[in-house]
Amino acid sequence: MLETDYTNVLETAVHSHGIPKIAFEKAAQSSKHIVDDIQRAHTSGKLGFGDLPNDAAVKAVMDFARSHPFPNVLLLGIGGSALGPAALDAALNHPNSGRRLVVLDNIDPDFICDSLASVAAEDTIVNVIAKSGVTAETMATFAVVRKWMNDAIGETKARERFVVTTDPAKGDLLAIAQQENYPAFVIPQNVGGRFSVLSPVGTLPAALMGFDVESLMKGAQNAAVQARKPFFENPALVAAFIQFVLERERGKRILVLFPYSQALWKFAFWLKQLWGESLGKKLDRRGQEVYYGQTPTAALGATDQHSQLQLFIEGPNDKSFLFFTAKEFHNSLPIEHPFSKYDSMDYLEHKTMADLFRAEKQATEIALTEAGRPNATITVDRIDAEALGELIMFSQYFTAYAGEFYDVDAFDQPGVEYGKKLTFAMMGRPRFAEYNRKIEETRQRGRSIIR
Ligand code: PA5
Repeated sequence: MLETDYTNVLETAVHSHGIPKIAFEKAAQSSKHIVDDIQRAHTSGKLGFGDLPNDAAVKAVMDFARSHPFPNVLLLGIGGSALGPAALDAALNHPNSGRRLVVLDNIDPDFICDSLASVAAEDTIVNVIAKSGVTAETMATFAVVRKWMNDAIGETKARERFVVTTDPAKGDLLAIAQQENYPAFVIPQNVGGRFSVLSPVGTLPAALMGFDVESLMKGAQNAAVQARKPFFENPALVAAFIQFVLERERGKRILVLFPYSQALWKFAFWLKQLWGESLGKKLDRRGQEVYYGQTPTAALGATDQHSQLQLFIEGPNDKSFLFFTAKEFHNSLPIEHPFSKYDSMDYLEHKTMADLFRAEKQATEIALTEAGRPNATITVDRIDAEALGELIMFSQYFTAYAGEFYDVDAFDQPGVEYGKKLTFAMMGRPRFAEYNRKIEETRQRGRSIIR
């Protein structure tokens, strides 16, 4: 079961940079409505992420995966339509599984060409994912990949290699799927892009990769139940309260997501988007200009101990740290027969790599705490599909509850949408001409360049 250790955010640990225990007691009372409000939004159908362990949808993706056993899965999508599946793959795939997920979530032409050159089209199924069904990056990549597949295996066979995941009612991707007879999986309308990994956005690629989707959903369900409990039994609510107080009242404008698990590295990138895009808001719910948001960044234990940690311990005290760990590793990896004459190795005899990894995490925690840097730890039992489900659902509630503390809409992204419109206008898409004025104004301002 997932747990949050918040010892090192307390005043007793990090003094004036921490939170007094009494504040937690008060929050336990004052935050009751937060759980109820999010729950009410689910019951009324306004929100859907917490209801996603949906048996029918899981069965559909698993049936589809069984009848489409391809070694390569090419995923075309961006943002919330790519980061979640990539996180699942990084955590759950094994190098010798015989299956490969290639995520084309960037439009750098060299990256696309090199990625396509690295897979055989005849062994590949393509999953095109876009909630809106119109995102420029995804639609452009879709066009390129469709031609690549047609050229490799012919148009008729190629048509059977595409499956789309999109909105159930709108968007060009849905219309194209209907026109081309591609199978289509749907993202419920009340589930936003970055909250969609437990919909077919994540479960279809996971099933195609052979991951244990049922356990993923079981973990998610457990975390959803936990996220509806009272304050002191609710890791997501407590974690949200902590970040809100640290950011607003202690000036911790940066949140460092710090997995001590190689498998969770891409999970940190997924969470970075969820936290940043959900909480980075100009306006609060009353329309007042607030410019809220805690900047998420990622560090990897133990690798970043030899990179960013010096800055974290001695640089500006403007960060809060959130570690992610597992109680057990699948392999403890004994360290045997080191060169015992050398004391840089002798002490390692009869220890395991897991012991060293745990010790390093603890050392980082102690060093940060001593330097007055608040840090908390999220722990799961071990890294497997169930734990990933727990971590994902925990993170979604963590973010949603933080949105309630800030009183912002955590489920929209007006900044992202504006950027999309400017791109459409720049590329000459009809009906977006009104944005040309902005583009022209910028062009006329000229550039300041030094050569
Ligand atoms: O959370 C969001 O809504 C965004 O980050 C989207 O996931 C991202 O912009 C991609 O959108 P789409 O799935 O429509 O291609």
